[in-house]
Amino acid sequence: MTKQGSPGGTNLDPWYDNYADRTAGLSASAVRALFAVASRPEVVSLAGGMPYVSALPDELVTGALERVMRDQGPVALQYGSGQGTPEVREHILEVMRTEGIRGSIDDVVVTTGSQQALDLVSKIFLNPGDIVLAEAPSYVGALGVFKSYQAQVRHVGMDAEGMIPELLLEAIAALKAEGQRIKLLYLIPNFQNPAGVTLSWERRLRIIEIARAHGILIIEDNPYGLLYFDQPAPHAMRSVEEEGIVYLGSFSKTFAPGFRVGWALAPHGIKEKLVLANESAVLSPSTFSQSVITEYLNAADWKGQIDTFRVMYRERRDAMLEALDDFLPEMSWTVPNGGFFVWLTLPEHLDSQSMLPRAVKELVAYTPGTGFYADGNGRHNIRLSFCYPKPDFIREGVRRLSTVINAERALLDTFMQSTPAVMPLDRGVVNPPANIN
Ligand SMILES: Cc1ncc(COP(=O)(O)O)c(C=O)c1O
Repeated sequence: MTKQGSPGGTNLDPWYDNYADRTAGLSASAVRALFAVASRPEVVSLAGGMPYVSALPDELVTGALERVMRDQGPVALQYGSGQGTPEVREHILEVMRTEGIRGSIDDVVVTTGSQQALDLVSKIFLNPGDIVLAEAPSYVGALGVFKSYQAQVRHVGMDAEGMIPELLLEAIAALKAEGQRIKLLYLIPNFQNPAGVTLSWERRLRIIEIARAHGILIIEDNPYGLLYFDQPAPHAMRSVEEEGIVYLGSFSKTFAPGFRVGWALAPHGIKEKLVLANESAVLSPSTFSQSVITEYLNAADWKGQIDTFRVMYRERRDAMLEALDDFLPEMSWTVPNGGFFVWLTLPEHLDSQSMLPRAVKELVAYTPGTGFYADGNGRHNIRLSFCYPKPDFIREGVRRLSTVINAERALLDTFMQSTPAVMPLDRGVVNPPANIN
């Protein structure tokens, strides 16, 4: 028997027929597949979303580690509560207050990165076939989780102010007419991954109203909110709506992802289920990581450190925008006011996925847009990350990318001129012919 969504034919894995149906939704993300290639030193990687942890002073981290081991070793090395330590939850409330959120430590669940919070929320809400509404495009890691629970993702269009409420209403009406069950509305309101845009305050309020009216739970995923450049993002949606939102946060971008500490702030009933799901998944989130983070937040000027990150990432954002202006003036791209990403739109006949091997040959890596859609869109988009390479490298990376894009355009132009009758120019249908791949 062939598993749903898997190619048929022989498979050398002897357990092939025994896997659960949900494994058909598991596939390596484009980002992960790229890591191996992009980590070669000669490649400028504009692909991964890795925070630049080298900007953290060593002594801040080693000091926290040493104090944890010296003062609370036996506790820090022990199992802990499935909800997380009260100390770190207290700090999490303090972090969230900076974005206008008030809550109680009872409503916070500490998770193994916010990625695990996404998994737990999906586990407790999604049955196979349920609908999740998400921005177009959306975070590849969330799409993977939704797919692994056999949910269907429907994308809702965005512009420079984030998700468009009228399109959300249209999508809800269409899905309801089809008899579909919409369970979640997944949003990354600040400096979105991958598009870099921020949801305006007016739209936050309107979307909350729409979700409330239609009984749809909002997942507000906010790992980048404190990393703003020019002005702070509007307050979190959770600052004005408590019952209808599960808010997700993380220390990955403002401190370090290696500790794998994130959290969910949830309405009481949902929180209870999240704790049970967390216990069944990991027993307890890492006590050691939580202790180090608590110690770091107690002793270090963590707000000052976030300011340092903001200045550094702003410089890198500026380097990327300037390079795009200089080398790819005919393309269009988003202008992020924070976070890690710029979303580049290529002419429609260029395919970012098939172009990638040629880019890597030219020693630059990026993430093709298709990974950020569950429906095959994104072929003429590219996500460019400016978080990791230094400004000079970003400029060189964009220059290399421009040579690849220009060569690709020239080649396709030549080909199209010589065979005008057989090359349809409709959106998304042109695959470069095999002889020029
Ligand atoms: C939008 C978004 N959500 C969640 C995550 C997961 O972050 P972590 O599990 O490190 O907290 C990421 C990581 O890149 C992200 O970009």
